[in-house]
Amino acid sequence: MVKINYLTSGKEIEAPENSNILRMSLRHNCGLPNRCGGGLCGTCVFKVEKGAENLDRVKIQEKRKLGQEWLEKGYRLGCQTFVTTGDVALSWDKAVTQKVKKRKPGKYKSVKTS
Ligand code: FES
Repeated sequence: MVKINYLTSGKEIEAPENSNILRMSLRHNCGLPNRCGGGLCGTCVFKVEKGAENLDRVKIQEKRKLGQEWLEKGYRLGCQTFVTTGDVALSWDKAVTQKVKKRKPGKYKSVKTS
């Protein structure tokens, strides 16, 4: 089991390894905003506050919707991101969510993330 701390809503849950960030939020009422569930709308954008190394690789949908700009600042899409084998903490912010939602998806290109 791993811990996911949804800092913005103040909820911390225990989840099985390889759990999806948005699915766990929905199941435990942790409040991460969402809409499409498919990596298109950007509503579920969150900032990784702790444990970036415990998240799986960045998906093509995230590269398109977030672009290098937001990925480099430590943002991911909750519907596309899974916790691997360690604890994570994350937050979200209305102003950022609005900006990401409005962002036009870019073409896929290789984005360097660590
Ligand atoms: S819910 Fe739409 S991108 Fe995640």
